[in-house]
Amino acid sequence: MPNFKRTLITAALPYANGPLHIGHLAGCYLPADLYARYKRLAGEQVLFICGSDEHGVPITISADKEKVSPQDIVDRFHNLNKASFEKLGISFDYYARTTSPVHRETSQEFFLTLHNGGFLVPREEPQLYDEQAKMFLPDRYVEGTCPVCSNPNARGDQCENCGTYLSQTELINPRSKVTGSIPVVRPAKHWFFALSRFQKELETYIESHRNEWKENVLQAARSWLKSGLHDRPITRDLTWGVPVPLPDAEGKVLYVWFDAPIGYISATKEATADWKKWWQDDTTQWITFLGKDNIVFHTILFPAMLLAHNEATDKLPLTLGEGGVRGHYILPENVPANEWMNLEGEKFSKSRGFTVELHEIAERYPADVIRYAFATMIPEQKDSDFQWKEFQARANNELADIFGNFANRVLTFASKHFENKIMGNRKELDAEGQVLLDGFGVRAKEIADFYERFRLRDATAATMDLARSANKYFNDAGPWKLIKEDKASAAQVIRSCLEALRALAIYFAPITPNASTSILKTLGANASEENWSNAHEPKLHGQTELGPIEILFPKIEDETVTEEIKRLETMAERSRDLQVTVAKQEASQTPSAKADGYISIEDFKKIKLRTAKILEAERVPKSKKLIKLQIVLGEEKRQIVAGIGEKFTPEELIGKTIVVVANLQPAKLMGQESNGMLLAVNDESGAVSLITSDREAASGLEVR
Ligand code: MF3
Ligand code: ZN
Repeated sequence: MPNFKRTLITAALPYANGPLHIGHLAGCYLPADLYARYKRLAGEQVLFICGSDEHGVPITISADKEKVSPQDIVDRFHNLNKASFEKLGISFDYYARTTSPVHRETSQEFFLTLHNGGFLVPREEPQLYDEQAKMFLPDRYVEGTCPVCSNPNARGDQCENCGTYLSQTELINPRSKVTGSIPVVRPAKHWFFALSRFQKELETYIESHRNEWKENVLQAARSWLKSGLHDRPITRDLTWGVPVPLPDAEGKVLYVWFDAPIGYISATKEATADWKKWWQDDTTQWITFLGKDNIVFHTILFPAMLLAHNEATDKLPLTLGEGGVRGHYILPENVPANEWMNLEGEKFSKSRGFTVELHEIAERYPADVIRYAFATMIPEQKDSDFQWKEFQARANNELADIFGNFANRVLTFASKHFENKIMGNRKELDAEGQVLLDGFGVRAKEIADFYERFRLRDATAATMDLARSANKYFNDAGPWKLIKEDKASAAQVIRSCLEALRALAIYFAPITPNASTSILKTLGANASEENWSNAHEPKLHGQTELGPIEILFPKIEDETVTEEIKRLETMAERSRDLQVTVAKQEASQTPSAKADGYISIEDFKKIKLRTAKILEAERVPKSKKLIKLQIVLGEEKRQIVAGIGEKFTPEELIGKTIVVVANLQPAKLMGQESNGMLLAVNDESGAVSLITSDREAASGLEVR
């Protein structure tokens, strides 16, 4: 950490709208905690911040459903999630809530500074309005048919079936979730954040980190930048949220993704009076942990907001700045986002009950066991899959049988043969014992490097390897034989083992903090005085009486695991039955097709025609007719195969803007995946013309 004096660590603020599940733990909170604990052990200054994201429409939807207030919902889940984190040893220095007064003030100050600096501009946009409920409908309060995949239950912000981000006015047959009625389109006034002005600055920022950031993070950020940044509305017509602090904005609140990341700052203010040291000082590095769906908010949107705030405070009279100081916010130094974790080969589904919630698992297994097992399964490079059998194997065959066993056999031996005292001499370890500890010193540096580069699975595996080598040392030295021949040498071997155990307790402390504390206590060492870099140096006090030996990691029985799996299977089956019933019902309700040859506008709208740009074109081998095209459809790249090879050369196709049927079922043509269909006309003479746009249209536009 060359130029930094301290590290601010944040983990994405979870919505207080439901219990967290083990996927969240593996993807975000455990990695953040491993890193934070490692940093503290390395003697660095750390502030580890998280809290509940208590705004956003899903919370009001839950409240409506349960007929309680949104405050009731967030109180419940804030407390539940906070308690789960505590139980699992997630060592936040502060766990905030975005409903706090400090957060409201901080967000409003942020809004006003951006507003007065000219970065927030009011604009009228068409929006869906429910005339029965007399309200504008937030995205999540609208459902309709997805224009891309025809899923009839797409939401106003996203289709969960095909993943496309939508705007509510794109939905086919929209209906209000509040009253079930058909909403009308009306103009609504909102404040737009001038995100587009930060295109260049953000490109420079992202590329300045090209060597340290993970590839998935760079890719997500770059793809946003590539499609060009657009100004975004950051206010909503809602009552739940931070009120827009302007006189002409009654009934409007800040968009949840505007206020939530400001939550990191407001939480820091609540945690320490010294908050500026953590946010407005170039000697602080800010590392922000999150899951992959949050990448763009942390690499693009929030950095742009911070840049805007910095620029605005430069321009504005000091009265708006905090205490008259023109502070400049720092940007994330790294954004180690992970991929997803699946559950026994399937996606987590809260609604189906196919999930393992944090508070449940925390009740059933010790925190250390959970932490170790999940540390080996972090979805760092690609999606990972949680399997109960693997959980058991990690817990039993590694944690208990390697690390736990070493601790147990050494302590048992000392208690049996050396009056439960630390004998031998720490200054003259036996040669092999010295080699073991020297090796620890070397490998601890490698592990430190893994932590610094967010390779936490590697760090975990390498830590377990240290315990393996300690066991090997014990086996090779054979103290049970030695004790009969040469008690002094046996004492020296056990001394080396006890020193190694102390070192292991330190190396394992980020992963298994409870076991580590307990081992150090047994050895008469003080956890708070230990440090990563000199953990391998012998330092136990001779003649110290060892504390009681505890079972560090109880084994997980086969029956326990069988039960867990059965529970999930029942859930999966139950919901499969349900899906079949629903599908049958829907099929029986489909109105019969019209007999007169006409189709309804609804039917036409099912065909999703969109503009696309051809990036690459090449002939399909062994085919005269087929050309394989790589096209870009809005933000999405696709391959389509078209039968136009006799009329066009690949070269003349590249760069053209064409029209494709975007929601055609994918097919294979001569072994090539085709994901859509290009439109062309064929006249009597056999000439073929492509349907193109008469001006350079952007790709991904709807044709209607
Ligand atoms: N609540 C969001 C989620 O769970 C994350 C918010 S992160 C923050 O996806 F940066 F906005 F705080
Ligand atoms: Zn869809």
